[in-house]
Amino acid sequence: MYEAFFYREGELFCEEIALSELARRFGTPLYVYSANAIRDRWHALRAAFAPDPPLFCYAVKANHNLAVIRTLALLGAGADVVSGGELARARAAGVPARKIVFAGVGKTDAEIRRALEEDILQFNVESESELERIAAIARALGRRAPIALRVNPDVAAATHDKIATGRRGDKFGVPIEDAPALYEKAARLPGLEPVGVHLHVGSQIFELSTFERAYARAIALARALRGRGIAIRRLDLGGGFGVPYDGEPPFDVAGLAALVRRLVAGLDVELVFEPGRFLVAEAGVLVSAVVELKETRERRFLVLDAGMNALLRPALYGARHALLPVRAPAPHETLLVTDVVGPICESSDRFGRDYALPRLRPGDLVAFRTAGAYGMVMASDYNSRPSPAEVLIDGRKAALVRARREPEEQMAQERIPEWLERSVRATGCGSGA
Ligand code: LLP
Repeated sequence: MYEAFFYREGELFCEEIALSELARRFGTPLYVYSANAIRDRWHALRAAFAPDPPLFCYAVKANHNLAVIRTLALLGAGADVVSGGELARARAAGVPARKIVFAGVGKTDAEIRRALEEDILQFNVESESELERIAAIARALGRRAPIALRVNPDVAAATHDKIATGRRGDKFGVPIEDAPALYEKAARLPGLEPVGVHLHVGSQIFELSTFERAYARAIALARALRGRGIAIRRLDLGGGFGVPYDGEPPFDVAGLAALVRRLVAGLDVELVFEPGRFLVAEAGVLVSAVVELKETRERRFLVLDAGMNALLRPALYGARHALLPVRAPAPHETLLVTDVVGPICESSDRFGRDYALPRLRPGDLVAFRTAGAYGMVMASDYNSRPSPAEVLIDGRKAALVRARREPEEQMAQERIPEWLERSVRATGCGSGA
C-alpha cells in the first residue's frame, strides 16, 4: 500500500511536503489530503475486481470537498449522494449524472425533481411512500425514474451501533420480505422503472461474513424478482469497507472481490459499490497545534487547537485516531502518557486517554491519522472557533482547497433583527451607558 505520510529526517511529510511547512503556510487546524493516497485506494479496489471492475460510486458524504471528488471523478468514479447539496457538489466536481446514485431517507420533492432533471443513474428508495412520491414527480415531469429499493436485510454489522444500518428497527430501507410486493407495485406505476436492488448495512465493517450474508439476500431477491418478470439488471451493494484507525489490520479487498464473484456467478448483472471511507480516510490527516499543557494531580492533558468542532468522531463514536507528533521523537526519547483534548467547553471534547507522546510544548504540531473521511464534513462552528482549512497535496504541489472560515465570516451570515436594534438604542445597551 502506498504510504503518503512518513517521517523524513525527523519530520512528518505528506508526499513531498513537510507538514510543518503546510502548517506555517496555511495555519492550524488543517486537514491535509494526499491525492496519491486516494488514487492508490481507488486502484486497489479496481484491481481486486479486475478484469471486470464494477462502478464505484464514491460516497460523497465521507469527504465532500470538490477537489477530493474531482480527484476521484478523473479516475472514473461515480458518486453516491444523499442530498441535493451532494448532488450539486458531485456535478460541480465533474461526476457525470449517469454515474450518480441517490439514497437517503428524507429526499424532498425539490431534490427528487432536481435529480430527475439531471437524469441520474438511479434512485435508491427507502420506503413505499417515497416510491409513490418519486413516481408522481417523475410522471409530472414526463419521465420514468430508474429505481432500486433499498432493502433492509436484517443483518447486524459488527461495528459501532451508531453506524450500523441494516438491522430490523433501523430507519433505513424496506424489510426485505416486503420487497417483492413493492417491486410489483413499482413496476405498475408509470413514473417508475425498477432496475436494481440496493443495500448498505453499515460502515467501518471488517467482517466479510457480514457482507456475505447481506449480499446473498439481495442476490436471492434479484433472482426471485427476475422470476416474476421484473427486469433487475443492477445490484448496488453499498459501501462500508473498514479502514485501520489505530493499527488494525487492513480490510481484505481481495477477499471481498472473491466472495462477490462467487455470489454473483451466473447472474448477468451490473454491480455498483458505494465506498466512502475506504477511498479517502487514510489519505487525510488533521494537523493541530498544541495550545497548552495542563497537569492535575490525576492526569496530564495536552490541549490542542482542534477539538470536537474539527474532528467529531472521537466524541460521537468513541473513535480513536492514531496521533503522530509532526517532529519525530529522538530514538530513545521518553514518551509521556497523556490525555489529548480539544479547547471546547465540554468533557466529551476528548480525542482519547493515554496517548504516548514525546514531551511537547505549546506551538508544537501533531497529526491525527485516518482523518480524510467523516472529518471536515462533520465539523461545526461550535464555540466560534475558526474552521479548519483543507489542503490537497499531489507530489510537490500543495493547494488550499478550502479556506479557513474565521469567526467574522461565520458572523457575516447572521443578522440582528431590526426590532432588537431598536431596543438596543432605547436601553442604551452597548453604548457604555
Ligand atoms: N452508502 C450509503 C447508503 C451510506 O449510508 C454510507 C454511509 C455509505 C454508502 C458509505 O459508507 P462507507 O464506505 O464510508 O463506510 N460518520 C460515521 C460514518 C457514517 C456512515 C454513513 N453512511 C463515521 O464517522 O464513522
